[in-house]
Amino acid sequence: MCDKKDARRHMELAKLQETQGDLHNARKNYLEAASIFVLEAEVNRDDAFLKDANDCYRRSKAVLGESVHQELGKTELAKRTIVELEEFEGDNMCGEHRITTMIELAKRQEKNDPKEAANNYLKAADMLLKESYNDKKREEEYLSVANKIYTRAKELKALQTEGGIDEAGFKQADVVAKKDNKITFADIGGLQELKEEIRFKIIEPFKDPDLFRHYGKNIGGGILMYGPPGCGKSLIAMATANEAHATFFHVKSSDLKSKFVGETEKNIAELFKKAREKQPSIIFFDEFEALGGDRSESHSHERSAVAQLLTEMDGMDSKEQQILLLAATNEPWSIDPALRREGRFGRTLFIPQPDAEARKHIFSLIMSRRPTKEIDYAKLTEATDGFTGADIKAACEMATDIPLRESLKTKKRRKITMDDFNLAISGTRSILTQWYAKAQEQVKKKKLEGSFAELVTAASQMVKIEMIA
Ligand SMILES: Nc1ncnc2c1ncn2[C@@H]1O[C@H](COP(=O)(O)OP(=O)(O)O)[C@@H](O)[C@H]1O
Ligand SMILES: [Mg+2]
Repeated sequence: MCDKKDARRHMELAKLQETQGDLHNARKNYLEAASIFVLEAEVNRDDAFLKDANDCYRRSKAVLGESVHQELGKTELAKRTIVELEEFEGDNMCGEHRITTMIELAKRQEKNDPKEAANNYLKAADMLLKESYNDKKREEEYLSVANKIYTRAKELKALQTEGGIDEAGFKQADVVAKKDNKITFADIGGLQELKEEIRFKIIEPFKDPDLFRHYGKNIGGGILMYGPPGCGKSLIAMATANEAHATFFHVKSSDLKSKFVGETEKNIAELFKKAREKQPSIIFFDEFEALGGDRSESHSHERSAVAQLLTEMDGMDSKEQQILLLAATNEPWSIDPALRREGRFGRTLFIPQPDAEARKHIFSLIMSRRPTKEIDYAKLTEATDGFTGADIKAACEMATDIPLRESLKTKKRRKITMDDFNLAISGTRSILTQWYAKAQEQVKKKKLEGSFAELVTAASQMVKIEMIA
C-alpha cells in the first residue's frame, strides 16, 4: 500500500506537473505526498519526515501563489492537508492513506478536542464504507475498522453530553409519517377483486378488530404483497393507509439498513416505537427483500435486521396495538422463511399485472386530463397485453411527449392521437416475461410452489401465451 515511496512518487509527479504548468494536479500531488509523510513521521517516530511533509505542503501552497511562513506541527499539518485534499474530492488517488491519516489525526485529538476527534472518526468511517463498496475483496476488513472507529466516535460523543448522545453526524434512518399522500382506491386501475380482498383482509379487520375476532379470525401479523415490479404494490399500500385512516410510515427497506453494527436494529426499533406512538398506524416496508432477505444467503452483518424484525413483531400484542404491517417485494422467494410464518408476514397477496379491464382503466386515469383526439382505448388495451401498470404509464408519457415537443418548435398545439400511441407502444418493452421466467425458476429451485401458488399459476399462463404467440 501507500508508504514513503508513494509519497516520493507523488512529490516527483507534482514537481513535473509544476514545470508543465498543470498546477491543479501539482497541488493535489503535493498535498497527497504531505499527508503520507505526516503519517510516516508518526509510524516511524521520525520527525525527519515532517520536514518533507512541510516542504510538500509549502509547495502545494506556492504553486497557487499562496504564502505559508510557519513550520506546522504534525497534527496541524495533517489536519490542514486533509481539509485541502477534500477539496479534490472525486479524484481520490490514495484513498486508504487519507483514511489512515484521518484516523491518526482523530486519535491525537481525542484528549484535547474530543468533539473534533469524533467528527474525524465519523468521516473516516464514512470513507471506509465507500471503500468497502468499491473493493469487495476487502469488504469485511474495511467494515470491521469502520465499525471500530464508529463505536469510538459514539463513545466520545457520549462522554461529552450527559444523558442522551449528541446525534449530530450519525446516520439516522428517516422515519417520519407521511401526510401528503392522497392516493385512494379510485386511483388504482382495475384489480376490482383484489380491492375487495384488501378491504376484507386488511382494512375492515383494522377498523373493527373485535368483529373479526368474534368470528374467530386471526388478525395479527403482517401482509406480504408480492408480484412483478410496476404493478401497483406501492400504490395499493398508500391507498390502503388512506382508506384505513391510519398514520402511514412508508419505509424503503434499504434506508433502514446500516453497515454499522447495531444501527439497523436501532432504526427498526425506532420505527416501531414511532408507529406505536402514532397509532392507528401502518408501516409499509417497500422493497422488503432488502431488509428481510433470507439469512442463509446474506452477509453476517445483515442478518441482524431479520432478527430485530422478528423481535418487534413477536412483541406486538394485537389486542392493544393498532399497527398494521405491510410489505412489498418483487422477489418473494428471497424473503427469510422465518418472516413468512403465521403471525408474522404469514398472509400473502399476489399483485398481478393488470388485466384488460385494468389496463383500460389505467389508460383513462392517466389520459383523462390531457388533450386527446379519437383515442381507441379498446385498441390500446389490446396492444398492451403483457404490460405492467408502470409500462402503461411510461407509454402514456412517451405518447404525450410527441405533440408536446412539436409544440415547442412550431408554437402550435395539437392533440395526442392514436399515431402517437402506436409509436410509444411499439417503443416500450415490458420486462414482465423475463420476470416470470426468473420467478418460476427461483420458486421451483427453492421448493416454494406451495407458498406462492398464484405466482406459479400466473407464470405458467404467461409461458403458455408466449408459446402460442
Ligand atoms: N393498477 C394501477 N393503476 C394505476 N397506476 C398503476 C397501476 N399499477 C401501476 N401503476 C403505475 O405504475 C407506477 C408504479 O407502480 P408501483 O405501485 O410503484 O408498482 P410496484 O410497487 O408494484 O413496483 C405507479 O406510480 C403508477 O403510475
Ligand atoms: Mg414499488
